[in-house]
Amino acid sequence: MAALSLDGRRVLLIVSGGIAAYKALELVRLLRKDNAGVRAVLTRRGAEFITPLSLQALCEDRVYTDLFSLTDESEMGHIQLSRSADLLVVAPASADLLAKMAAGIADDLATTILLATDKPVIVAPAMNVRMWQHAATVANIAVLRARGIVVIGPDEGPMACGEFGPGRLAEPAAIFAAVRDFFGKSGALAGRHVIVTSGPTYEPIDPVRYIANRSSGRQGHAIAQALAANGARVTLVSGPVTLADPPGVVSIHVETAREMHAAAAAALPANVAIFCAAVADWRVDASDRKIKKSGTVPTISLVENPDILSDISHRANGRPGLVIGFAAETENLVANATAKRLRKGCDWIVANHVGAGSDVMGGTDNEVVLITQDGAEPWQRASKSAIADKLVSRIIKALS
Ligand code: CTP
Repeated sequence: MAALSLDGRRVLLIVSGGIAAYKALELVRLLRKDNAGVRAVLTRRGAEFITPLSLQALCEDRVYTDLFSLTDESEMGHIQLSRSADLLVVAPASADLLAKMAAGIADDLATTILLATDKPVIVAPAMNVRMWQHAATVANIAVLRARGIVVIGPDEGPMACGEFGPGRLAEPAAIFAAVRDFFGKSGALAGRHVIVTSGPTYEPIDPVRYIANRSSGRQGHAIAQALAANGARVTLVSGPVTLADPPGVVSIHVETAREMHAAAAAALPANVAIFCAAVADWRVDASDRKIKKSGTVPTISLVENPDILSDISHRANGRPGLVIGFAAETENLVANATAKRLRKGCDWIVANHVGAGSDVMGGTDNEVVLITQDGAEPWQRASKSAIADKLVSRIIKALS
């Protein structure tokens, strides 16, 4: 749902080099017309395509150009610039700037702001089609997406260099719509960031075989969708599932427990984290070659995986305000889950019975007991999406 206007929202626009830089002027015009506050940073390369003066004429403020200008730093340092914004938009984002963002390089004002910021970032790439399709750019975009950065475009079409393909900067109206969409989220969880893990993990034995479990990801995906429907910014870290990515959610696809751990940690900070995934407790000390039959049965040795829920729950810095774990138990559900809540350091545990015949793992329904510091509360058996809605209502209540 779109907001009525961007009234008072503060956007920091970073304009990097490229023929499309001139379109940034139209974007500023659209943002200003919608009453957004716009500050702009023009990179050295960007200033070869448009002048600081033309950008400044449209912005409410002077244009910032160089980290090492003493006047810039004394008037408004790079940290202050990123703090004073609600959202950072990089348009156009050159291949070079995207690579620096992915690598964490901070060698001018724009890249320093991007490394120092804790604000959400939208990038609109623009470059030659071959640069866009180069493996390095593909990898950089994947890294940025995995960090929750929203990527708009690029569009496909004839390019200034005479080639045809994807690489053109998205139209200013489309970038503006993405900004509106970002701020337009309404609902009780608007402005909150929630991390959800979902699905199984696959632990390779060798390049062709793996150990997995029966989790379908249905419950975690339903929770992510219900959170987004209530206005939350959701990062879903999903193991291999056959489900579609839920709409309005940043989905990060991983395979192993260690990848899930790294992706969930990289998505912090968050207001709430929900660990719904059925993470493999052990990984195989894997062979990098296919294990061949040799007359004897091979032995698989297991190594313990990191406990993602426990790690994030016990963090002294950056622990989400509300951490929710799940507990899959085959017996003594309430006692085991209550002990698990304390052991793992989380606030709530959603416990479910996964014994033979329970039909929960991989099924469409769930029957859970919510364990909080106040005790155990059994919920009626219901569809996984109804359980998700109920859990999200409880989260909204707890945060308000
Ligand atoms: N979990 C996790 N990382 C792991 C193992 C589990 O984040 N390496 C999380 C799950 O996502 C879930 C909770 O911990 O939220 C409990 O998972 P469960 O499998 O029930 O517990 P285990 O820690 O595996 O304990 P046990 O198998 O001994 O019951």
